[in-house]
Amino acid sequence: MKFIDTILEDYCIDHSVRPSVLNKELFAETHNTQELPQMLIGEMEASFLGFLIKSSGVKRVLEIGTFTGYSALAMARELPNDGELITLDINPKTVALAQKYWDKAKWGHKIKSIVGSALETIPTLKGQFDLVFIDADKENYKKYLDMVLPRLSGNGIVIVDNVLWGGKVVSGSKFDTVTPPTTSTIALREFNEYIKGRKDLYSTMLPVRDGLFLIKRV
Ligand SMILES: C[S@@+](CC[C@H](N)C(=O)[O-])C[C@H]1O[C@@H](n2cnc3c(N)ncnc32)[C@H](O)[C@@H]1O
Repeated sequence: MKFIDTILEDYCIDHSVRPSVLNKELFAETHNTQELPQMLIGEMEASFLGFLIKSSGVKRVLEIGTFTGYSALAMARELPNDGELITLDINPKTVALAQKYWDKAKWGHKIKSIVGSALETIPTLKGQFDLVFIDADKENYKKYLDMVLPRLSGNGIVIVDNVLWGGKVVSGSKFDTVTPPTTSTIALREFNEYIKGRKDLYSTMLPVRDGLFLIKRV
């Protein structure tokens, strides 16, 4: 869900460093072949993540939720040549499509994919991460956050996608149209309250695309 008028979003994108031409092609193929192409982060969010990576000297990224590899492709381009992006997903079919595009990219060598349930694959990972991007099943967001917080480097940040969930997180609002709320809506409401209550975390929620939570340890 987009909260910003398309005219303004297009203007923002037009004045930003955009993801690669390969990203554009992957976006088109995902829209032509996948049932839920709207899961892709899109150009504006990709540009924002790219800026964070580029400006903060991020070298190692963990992504939870690969899908067809759009966000991984966009973020990896902004990493230094010896940087690494590990991306986790449970669906081997969409990861195969992702790999096709990563193989075409000059910077594709920075991306490493691990297929399996993220709850099982996260504990197998070694080392620390400068940036963790959580964009998978909403019901497990809290577990993912708790698992990755101890794995952050000194200045590491976690970015959590879809925390506005089309506005449905605001109970009783004009966006709260599905009764009873889905498990994803309930999980996101609980997750957002959990972050608000954690005084050991510094967090800011932004209305970029479907809502981003930026979180770091104090
Ligand atoms: C919103 S999509 C990711 C979109 C991607 N970050 C992008 O913008 O290009 C969410 C992905 O999470 C994956 N997923 C769902 N449950 C999962 C789990 N338990 N473990 C790992 N991946 C999971 C889905 O298969 C799906 O591909």
